[in-house]
Amino acid sequence: MNKIAIVRCEHFNAAHRLHNKDWTDEKNQAIFGKCNNPNYHGHNYELEVKVIGTVDPDTGYVIDTKILSDLIKDRILARFDHRNLNLDTEEFKDINPTAENIAIVIYNLLRPEIKPKQELKIKLYETPRNYVEYPY
Ligand code: NI
Repeated sequence: MNKIAIVRCEHFNAAHRLHNKDWTDEKNQAIFGKCNNPNYHGHNYELEVKVIGTVDPDTGYVIDTKILSDLIKDRILARFDHRNLNLDTEEFKDINPTAENIAIVIYNLLRPEIKPKQELKIKLYETPRNYVEYPY
């Protein structure tokens, strides 16, 4: 049976600071620029969660979008929405909350909740012009 993808779009707002504690302030500033601002800054993150699989003959669904939406709200938005990613979350205590790392963290939080036979792909927009895709 042919595979088909279903995508659920959600969004969250969060603050972050890009900083490598093993570097000098000068090097952090040189590498991360404005994103190294000590007092943090915010983004409106747009999240697209794609589940790829075959259509269940009983329901006609790959996954019920209500279930997928609730999953994202419960596992991702409840954790990260309106938070300071550096200060308020366990996930980014030791890793830099770049769009890349946020997408990987989101994937790892959702992957166990999706059927093993289904593929999961994350697209995360940090700005309307910048987004990351994982896995790629
Ligand atoms: Ni930023």
